[in-house]
This record gives sequence, C-alpha cells and structure tokens, in this order.
Amino acid sequence: MFPTATPLVWSAAASLVAGATVTAPIPIDFCEVIGNKTWASPAEVRACISSFPVDPIVKASVIETLNKTLAFHTSTNYQIQAPPPFEDDVHVDLVGELARIAAEEQSSDLELHIDLFRTFKRANDGHCAYINYCYDSLYLTYLPLPLVLLTESDGTQGVFIAPEAFAVATAEFGPEVSFWQDALPGKLKGRLASLSGAKVLLIDGADPFVAVNANSEITGSYQAFGARQNAFFASYFVSDAGWNYTLGNFAQQSLPLVDAATLTVQLANATKNEIVTFTIPYRSRISSILRSFTNSTSYRERNCRASIFTNGYDLYSNDTSATGAERTPLMDAGFSASRAYGTSELAFLASGPRQNEHPLNLALDALPLADAALPPYLRPALPASNASYSVAQFHMLADNMTGVLALGSFAAPSFSVFQQSLLDGLVDLKKKGAKRLVVDVTNNGGGYICIAHWLHRIIIGARDTTEPQAGLDSTARASPLARAIVHRVSKGADPEELLLYNPAQWTNATHHPLGNGTDWMKKVETIEVNGYEDAFSQRLGQECQPFSVKPTKKGLFKAKNVAIVSNGRCASSCSLFSITMSKLEGVKTVVVGGKADVPQQYCGTVGGQSTNFATIDTEIKTSGLKNHTLAPPDFLTNSVQGITWRLGYGLDDDTEPEEWQDHPADLNLPLTIHNVNNPVAIWEDVVDVLWSDAQPLFQVQL
Ligand SMILES: *[C@@H]1O[C@H](CO)[C@@H](O)[C@H](O)[C@H]1NC(C)=O
Ligand SMILES: *[C@@H]1O[C@H](CO)[C@@H](O)[C@H](O)[C@H]1NC(C)=O
Ligand SMILES: *[C@@H]1O[C@H](CO)[C@@H](O)[C@H](O)[C@H]1NC(C)=O
Ligand SMILES: *[C@@H]1O[C@H](CO)[C@@H](O)[C@H](O)[C@H]1NC(C)=O
Ligand SMILES: *[C@@H]1O[C@H](CO)[C@@H](O)[C@H](O)[C@H]1NC(C)=O
Ligand SMILES: *[C@@H]1O[C@H](CO)[C@@H](O)[C@H](O)[C@H]1NC(C)=O
Ligand SMILES: *[C@@H]1O[C@H](CO)[C@@H](O)[C@H](O)[C@H]1NC(C)=O
Ligand SMILES: *[C@@H]1O[C@H](CO)[C@@H](O)[C@H](O)[C@H]1NC(C)=O
Ligand SMILES: *[C@@H]1O[C@H](CO)[C@@H](O)[C@H](O)[C@H]1NC(C)=O
Ligand SMILES: *[C@@H]1O[C@H](CO)[C@@H](O)[C@H](O)[C@H]1NC(C)=O
Ligand SMILES: *[C@@H]1O[C@H](CO)[C@@H](O)[C@H](O)[C@H]1NC(C)=O
Repeated sequence: MFPTATPLVWSAAASLVAGATVTAPIPIDFCEVIGNKTWASPAEVRACISSFPVDPIVKASVIETLNKTLAFHTSTNYQIQAPPPFEDDVHVDLVGELARIAAEEQSSDLELHIDLFRTFKRANDGHCAYINYCYDSLYLTYLPLPLVLLTESDGTQGVFIAPEAFAVATAEFGPEVSFWQDALPGKLKGRLASLSGAKVLLIDGADPFVAVNANSEITGSYQAFGARQNAFFASYFVSDAGWNYTLGNFAQQSLPLVDAATLTVQLANATKNEIVTFTIPYRSRISSILRSFTNSTSYRERNCRASIFTNGYDLYSNDTSATGAERTPLMDAGFSASRAYGTSELAFLASGPRQNEHPLNLALDALPLADAALPPYLRPALPASNASYSVAQFHMLADNMTGVLALGSFAAPSFSVFQQSLLDGLVDLKKKGAKRLVVDVTNNGGGYICIAHWLHRIIIGARDTTEPQAGLDSTARASPLARAIVHRVSKGADPEELLLYNPAQWTNATHHPLGNGTDWMKKVETIEVNGYEDAFSQRLGQECQPFSVKPTKKGLFKAKNVAIVSNGRCASSCSLFSITMSKLEGVKTVVVGGKADVPQQYCGTVGGQSTNFATIDTEIKTSGLKNHTLAPPDFLTNSVQGITWRLGYGLDDDTEPEEWQDHPADLNLPLTIHNVNNPVAIWEDVVDVLWSDAQPLFQVQL
C-alpha cells in the first residue's frame, strides 16, 4: 500500500545494549532526520512514523476500547447495511472489522493505525471516527495546487487547478513555495503561477475522476457519494478567524502517504491550448499540535501516549493529579472539536460552562478544516452588519432585497452572544430591507444543538413545527452498561447533575422533563437492526425551549423566501437545522458544485447528539462502573473516538432514524470560473436562479 521503512532504530538500540561491534551498520533513527524541520518530504516523515513497531498489548487494548465504546454509538448495527438511498454508501460491520484487524498482523503501528482509521471512515459518518494524534495531521501533506470542479460555458464539466491556487499557496506556504517552483520541470520551472486555472486532463495518467472517486472511498464523514466527491476539491467557509479556505483532499492530506502527483493540464490563457505533463512532489509540514522531538523516543513520548484529555475521569474525585486541576468535560469536547476545527475553538469551548448545558452535535475529522485564508479579493467586500459575530456574518446583497447569513459553524466562543447575534443580525437585515434570506452553510460541521433549534424557530416563527420542538426527537442507545450508568445515576451517583446520562436535563416524547432520579432506561425499546437485536431508550423530546432569549412570535422571513446554500458538506447540527427547514417548512436547498450526474444531498451526518470516548469514560468512572466487564479500558494511545450518542428520528418516516433518509437538494447550482470560491458571486447566482425578476417571489418551480 505504501513503502515502509525498516524499524532500524529498535534493533539498533538492542545491538548497542548487546555491545555491537564497530562493523555493525550505523543505525538510522528516521525521526532524528526530521526532528528539527518544519518541512520534510512525505517519505522522510513516513520513514519516521512507520518505524514504530506494533505493541501487541497496546493493540489489543486499543481494539478493546474501540469495540466496547461502539456499544454506546447509536448506529453500529445500522451501519452494517444502510437502507436506500445509501445502500451502496454505508455497509461496514465495525465490530466484525475490529475482529479482523485483531487477528491480522500489521508490519508497523502506522499500518495498524491506517487500517483502524480507514475502517471507521468507511461508516461515512462524521460522528463515528477514530483518530490517533501520534499520526493524524501531525504533519499535513500539501501540494500548492488545490483543484476545483467547474462547469464550462457549454455545460461540460472539468477539473481545474483553482484560479486562486497561486494566491492561496503564496499566502499560506510563504518561502516554501520556492521548493515547488524549483521542483517544476523544464520550462514550468519557477512558473507555478502559470498553472492557476489550468484544466486538468489527467491525474497520474488517468481521468481525474478516478482519483476523485478513489478519494471518496477513504475520505469518510458524509454518507452521500456526492459530498465525498466534493471533499477532493477546494472550498471556503467562515471560521471564528474570518473567511477561510480548505485546499481539499487532493492538495491537503492528513497522512504522508503520497510522494508526488503527475498532472496533464491545459494551461489557462495559453495561445495554442498548450498541454503539459509534469510531476510535482507533495511536501509535509509539521503542525502546531505536534510536540517537538529530536528522535523516535521523544517523538513517541510526547505525541503518542495518552494525554490528560484522552480518557475520562471521576467528576467527583478530588484527585486533581489524575485529572488535571482545570479540566472539565467541556474541555474534552472542546479539545476534540478543536482538533477538528482549528485550535482556536478549544479555547472558546473550554471557557464555557459544563458540556451538558449546551449539548453539541459536531462532526469530527482528522484534517483541520481551517488550513488557509480565502484570498482577500474573494472575501465578501459587502459591508457586514454590526450584529455579525464570529462564525455568523450578515450581509446585504447589492439588490437591497436579499440578506445573507454566512454561517460557518453552529458553535462560537460564547453561546449566549452567538444566540443573540443571530436574532439581531436577521432583524438588522430586515430593517435594511431584506425580503429574502440566503443562509450559506458551506462546510458547516455543526455545533450547539440548541442554536440549530433557535435559528429554525426565529426564522420561521411560532408554529407547531417550531414549538416546543424545533429539532428532531431522538433516542440513545441502551446498551447494558449505559443502562447500568443510568441506574447508578438514579440512585444518586451524580448529585450535581453533571452527567450526560442524568435524566434531569432530558424530556420524554411529549417534551415533559424525565425528572430527577428517573431510571429512564429501566424499560427499553428492543428492536432488530440488520438482524441484530438492539436496544434504545424511550423517545426523547426537546430540551432547548424555553430559550434563554425571547424570540419574536412572528417569523422573520417567509419560508418561500429562504434558501439554504452549501457545497453539500453541512453536517450534524447543520443537518438538524437544514432538514427541519427543508422538510417541515419547505425552504429551498441549494448545493453549489459537484458532479452533474451525481445526486447532491444538501446535508449529511445528522446524528442527534455526538460525543466521544473520553466523555463516555467520564460517565463510567463517575458512576463507579469502570470495573464493569463491558467498560472500555483507558486508551493507552493519544486517541479520540467519536460516536453518536443520541440519534434523531426521521421526519418523512418518523419510526426510523433521519440519518439514512433522503436529503436531495432542490437545486444544484454549477460552479464556474466566475463564481468558484467567491461567496458573493455564488449568492448572487442563487438569487438569479431562485428569485430572478422574471420569476416573481413565491413562484419558483424547481
Ligand atoms: C534546530 O535548529 C536550530 C536552528 O534552526 C538550531 O539552532 C538547533 O541547534 C537545532 N537543534 C537540533 C536538535 O538540531
Ligand atoms: C467486540 O465485542 C463483541 C461484543 O459486543 C465481542 O463479541 C467481540 O469478540 C469483541 N471483539 C473484539 C475484537 O474484542
Ligand atoms: C488568465 O487570464 C485571466 C483574465 O485575464 C487572469 O485573471 C488570470 O490570472 C490568467 N491566468 C493565468 C494563469 O495567467
Ligand atoms: C532522544 O531525545 C531526547 C530529548 O529530546 C534525549 O533526552 C534522548 O537522550 C534521546 N534519545 C536517544 C536514544 O538519542
Ligand atoms: C472532595 O472534597 C469535598 C470538599 O472539599 C468533600 O466534601 C468531598 O467529600 C471530597 N470527596 C471525596 C471523594 O473525597
Ligand atoms: C482564516 O482566515 C483569516 C482571514 O480571513 C486568516 O487571518 C486566518 O489566518 C485564516 N486561518 C488559517 C488557519 O489560515
Ligand atoms: C448597530 O447599528 C445600529 C444601526 O444600524 C445601531 O442602532 C446599533 O446600536 C449598532 N449596534 C452596535 C452593537 O454597535
Ligand atoms: C441599494 O441601496 C443603496 C443605498 O441606499 C443605493 O445606493 C443603491 O442604488 C441600491 N441598489 C439598488 C439595486 O436599488
Ligand atoms: C436530584 O436528586 C439527587 C439525589 O438523587 C439530589 O441530591 C439532588 O439535589 C436532586 N436535584 C434536584 C435539582 O432536585
Ligand atoms: C411524559 O411525561 C408526562 C409527565 O410525567 C406524562 O404525562 C406523559 O404521558 C409522558 N409522555 C410519554 C410519551 O410518556
Ligand atoms: C468495582 O469497584 C467497586 C469500587 O469502585 C467495588 O466495590 C467492587 O467490588 C468492584 N467490582 C468488581 C467486580 O471488581
């Protein structure tokens, strides 16, 4: 699959102990070679990280942790075979696969990791992930050539080097761009800029879609094939830091497994449709989360062992040495979220109150989403409303009729400021004359569940679809250990109501509080899922309302005048919002870009509420059940396992999960050379297609 280096360092250490003779080959510590370098070749990084051997005890322990934590993931049995329309997309028996991996031998710990990592990816569920920060994204591996999929004026589609590629690369990579300038062959040498906007005819000698589709098999995170294809390409999103750019899986990878790409391209603006073929090397850059090292030993000691964030802890223990004095469950959630979304989010998620106060539904990925800045000339030049806050930016389009909410996440530094700003910003747009609203949720991986409910409620107004429940009813998996935790909690194991399994914060199917002390998993719903007997809690209602801010009774916009726009990569709380807006209110959904003959879903990875191993471990330890036979052992490695804790029920079929129900976009808007990665141009195109003057308001047929 990929070249592995002989783990010389270990035999070298052994031979030194044995007093090796001077004729013994000088051992190479491959990590020492890259120890002090910001940039290295992927082969050099791979030589270092593939030199760690499999430790059978650690391997067995990690597999046991993963396996036992899967009992808390709502979807384990569903994912063995998803129903249509995802029958070809989701069919992995994770428990069975773990047994396979346990039985197989791997040549290195990296090979073991890749098998585990990609096996979880095959669930195509952004909540169900396995990440090991000994490997994932400690180095990010880049090409300065982000790609985009464009539709040309004659309607044909092609893969292109992004027109902004050189601008992005020079801003992001600085002087290292000269490495690639020098690496380009022949007359392309030093002319990286000339490749921007080129049409890509072949990648590694084959049609570009061979590479796009191969990537869609391993990129995970979204059920829909179209959304996974789109991961290959560059796109934008709003982060807490501003307008950001993600290079896409072709130009940015979480593991250093590929050394070079060979592209055949037709240069942009060339006089004679000049076609050139060239090979360009990938380059790996050390990430800010990697702790400095000088050799294999220090690499592993500092990066590969469990940290204070890896495992849970007893919330009522006074032993701060075991837990880290300042640690809170929210920090754990924030920590994994920050890994997924960029380090700045750690600080703000950690600064809030306990996790239970604002439950999260958030996708988790090995790749940080924020990898670069959207070039200034592509950022919206329209004035932003002064109510804009963090990931929520409000703009009026030049038509003075369309307001835009660019919403990059459902999480922001302050829950309450965020909630207020969404109301103030929409009210401000209306004051400025907005009759219609575009909500751009491109690359929005979710966040606070109650912010999703809130946004639905304030846009639509008080209706039976928004009050009291503006989201989805849900159910938690009732595995024997989950039931034991609930039982312990009902007996007083959690007096301060800090645990997820504490009934105090949840409501029943008619939205009445379950009540302090209820053993709410005493009775469970037993169902058969893909031939396996499974058990779930009673149906849970909403816990968001009444909101802490009072919403206006009337909706702010008519549903017919609202469009939700994205690249199909809207997950988790973003799905809760989009699905309720689309299926209950009839709001139009638009996916921008994607292959024309592939159905585009407007969202994916619905979940209901997501969490991770560390949080579950805290539940187990706090309720005194760590020595239960079904309790997962602590991770020995620097790992994170994400799971879905509550799964939302469907709207079309309310007896089945929403997760694998259809979410077809109403409109698939082509990306062109004119609007690609240009948010304002995209919003204006959406307005033209949905609400052009020729088509009066309210009368659009799609
Ligand atoms: C790392 O590089 C710096 C200069 O960039 C140098 O001063 C230092 O000695 C190097 N350290 C090691 C361990 O090579
Ligand atoms: C995983 O757990 C199941 C029980 O849920 C058990 O049957 C199986 O043997 C375990 N697999 C491994 C690899 O430990
Ligand atoms: C091609 O021409 C367009 C329009 O003049 C220009 O914006 C773009 O930078 C050119 N591309 C290259 C690679 O020279
Ligand atoms: C590895 O590096 C650490 C410091 O980073 C040093 O203390 C240790 O002696 C080194 N080990 C070997 C085997 O060189
Ligand atoms: C922890 O400390 C608090 C107050 O400092 C005390 O009331 C409690 O009993 C202690 N808990 C344990 C388990 O020692
Ligand atoms: C995100 O974009 C802002 C400007 O819009 C920039 O300052 C910031 O550095 C970018 N983040 C990353 C990770 O590149
Ligand atoms: C925002 O602008 C409006 C006028 O459009 C003004 O009334 C309001 O005080 C401003 N808010 C802030 C927080 O500056
Ligand atoms: C929108 O409003 C601005 C400022 O009031 C005005 O200058 C502009 O002409 C208006 N545009 C349209 C299309 O009406
Ligand atoms: C919930 O019950 C526990 C005992 O089971 C008690 O300590 C706690 O004060 C109660 N909380 C509320 C809000 O009634
Ligand atoms: C929810 O709880 C309320 C109050 O205890 C009860 O009246 C109602 O029947 C319950 N709803 C369901 C669906 O069990
Ligand atoms: C589990 O641990 C508790 C103390 O936390 C102890 O009382 C109990 O005997 C243990 N059970 C088993 C099966 O080891």
